[in-house]
Amino acid sequence: MDIHTENKGVALVTGASAGLGRVYADRLAKQGYDLILVARRGDRLKEITESLQAKYGIKAKSLVADLSNPNDLRNVVDVLSTDTTISMLVNNAGIATLAPLIGTEKANVDAMNDINVTALIELCYAALPKFKARNRGTIINIGSVLSFYTLPISSVYSGTKGYVMNFTRGLQAEVEGSNVFVQLVLPASTATELWDLAGIPLKNLNESTLMSAENCVDAALAGLDQKELITLPSVEDKALWEAYDDARKKLFAATQNGEPASRYQLAS
Ligand SMILES: NC(=O)c1ccc[n+]([C@@H]2O[C@H](COP(=O)([O-])OP(=O)(O)OC[C@H]3O[C@@H](n4cnc5c(N)ncnc54)[C@H](OP(=O)(O)O)[C@@H]3O)[C@@H](O)[C@H]2O)c1
Repeated sequence: MDIHTENKGVALVTGASAGLGRVYADRLAKQGYDLILVARRGDRLKEITESLQAKYGIKAKSLVADLSNPNDLRNVVDVLSTDTTISMLVNNAGIATLAPLIGTEKANVDAMNDINVTALIELCYAALPKFKARNRGTIINIGSVLSFYTLPISSVYSGTKGYVMNFTRGLQAEVEGSNVFVQLVLPASTATELWDLAGIPLKNLNESTLMSAENCVDAALAGLDQKELITLPSVEDKALWEAYDDARKKLFAATQNGEPASRYQLAS
């Protein structure tokens, strides 16, 4: 068992019953965080909290909640609003239905919006003022490489993850200069249950493009240690993001013009 002397506080991790969230729970417990783990499958959360308590000597609690259910979401919001020991929020829970919009069940469209967007923003809305008031705290929002790219089967999923990216970048600007830190993590394909649930069997993916959940989270946490605002676990050349971000800023500056571009002005 690891013994920790520094009080890291409590990390609340959503989607901790599987995939990336489960690895976040393990790694944060290893760092000495106590945990509140959120997901629907209470049996899995129980097994995970018990095993992490035994392995790392931390305290871990389950908070069973369906984040697409407003009452359950309210319970998680209440915990974030009232538990002053919470020092980290990992907004990891997310789902995907990967299919063209036409033919996707409306319930699946709604669920992606509810979990990937509404729950994430509500939890940030609860946590951020508390972290700001204490001038301490970390929010990790999990986007995707489909935050900045769209496939014919990802209109809604990319839409939700684009929201996560833009929303998180705004939060980063809001907390600049304080001791509150907001990290945006943009994973590429990672070997988790998400794919089978999304309608794309994991076994059909090109293995050479798939990262393990452990490598993805370890890279993301290394990025956090390096105070990276945006972490792309699988991208070797950091300059690619910088060029993209720079182009975004230049394009925005070019819009601040007040006149139609000359190509839209009819010759009189
Ligand atoms: N896997 C990838 O290739 C990939 C790539 C880029 C980004 N991401 C993002 O990474 C994050 C984690 O995904 P993952 O790949 O680890 O997926 P995963 O293995 O399917 O795990 C998803 C987690 O979210 C929880 N969850 C799903 N619906 C929920 C609901 N209604 N209420 C509460 N919890 C719910 C699940 O728990 P329960 O079922 O027990 O509720 C599970 O713990 C997501 O935001 C995903 O979009 C994944």
